[in-house]
Amino acid sequence: MKIGIVGMGWVGASVAISVLQSGFAEELLVSDVNRDLADGEAMDLSHGAAFYPAARVRAVDVAELATADAVVIAAGRGGKPGESRLNLRKDNAAIVREIAKQLSALRGFLVLVTNPVDVMTYVAQRASGLPPERVLGTGTMLDTARLRQVLGRELSLEPRSVHAQVVGEHGDSEVVLWSSAHIGGVSLRRWPGWSAEREQRVASEVRLAAQEIIRRKGATNHAIGLVTAALLKWALRGERRVLTVSRVQDGACGLRDVALSLPAVVGARGATHVLEPEMDAAELEGLARSANLLRQTQLEVEAASNA
Ligand SMILES: NC(=O)c1ccc[n+]([C@@H]2O[C@H](COP(=O)([O-])OP(=O)(O)OC[C@H]3O[C@@H](n4cnc5c(N)ncnc54)[C@H](O)[C@@H]3O)[C@@H](O)[C@H]2O)c1
Repeated sequence: MKIGIVGMGWVGASVAISVLQSGFAEELLVSDVNRDLADGEAMDLSHGAAFYPAARVRAVDVAELATADAVVIAAGRGGKPGESRLNLRKDNAAIVREIAKQLSALRGFLVLVTNPVDVMTYVAQRASGLPPERVLGTGTMLDTARLRQVLGRELSLEPRSVHAQVVGEHGDSEVVLWSSAHIGGVSLRRWPGWSAEREQRVASEVRLAAQEIIRRKGATNHAIGLVTAALLKWALRGERRVLTVSRVQDGACGLRDVALSLPAVVGARGATHVLEPEMDAAELEGLARSANLLRQTQLEVEAASNA
């Protein structure tokens, strides 16, 4: 497998090491507008070759990535302490649009990480013209991983035994699907000691997790690196896992022409089958609010590019 990464900052570097450790890449091509940075990362990663499964690493220009099996876009700036993801939209949309245009002939997956990731997924799909099921944002995969980790800690359970997911925007309007959360078939809402107050506290911890990390270390990188490498591995193997990836929706839950996360079966041809999870009235309302906010932001970004 040939994997490309565009944008070798905090996130790109973590995606790179996670991909190499996962062992599914034969070739890793790294790219950055700062060529020295890409060259330096390629050299540094190559020097560790004895400690991960065999793979070649080199720095390239974006044009060379057109023949990759998957390309990750992590180029653009991250949030400053206290800054919302949606605030990054204008700066990052211009960057993502230019990169995606150069990848219009890609046969494989285009994976968006740059924030606001849902809007960037929309921008990249439109600019590349690739089928929506092959242009995937990591979306709420990270929020879902955070939710399960926090619930696991709260309930003294291994996070993989907690079945719960976050949908909608990867950002402030994200929606935790509490009504369908369960452990071994037992509804979380019937779990001893569970309460509405705990739901609010956990949802808030998950929603604000990135802010808390950015305030302390300036960026988030390790968990998103692991999430992205896992998404690539599972998709390229055609495992058909159900993942809360972002894609331009095509009718699921009544949503069209807006990129956001819903659980989807991700196979070798991409996120072809989007599921419609059961939701209570508050969750449906939350998803509609998230979709409206993202639609509005997509329109703003499109208007800015036409101005
Ligand atoms: N989706 C998620 O869950 C998630 C999680 C963490 C971070 N992020 C986002 O990922 C992005 C990257 O974050 P970071 O902390 O690595 O930022 P960073 O500033 O450390 O790195 C960004 C890199 O992009 C490069 N770049 C800028 N313009 C480019 C272009 N036109 N072509 C190629 N490279 C270009 C820069 O030179 C830099 O090296 C941010 O938008 C951040 O918000 C998303």
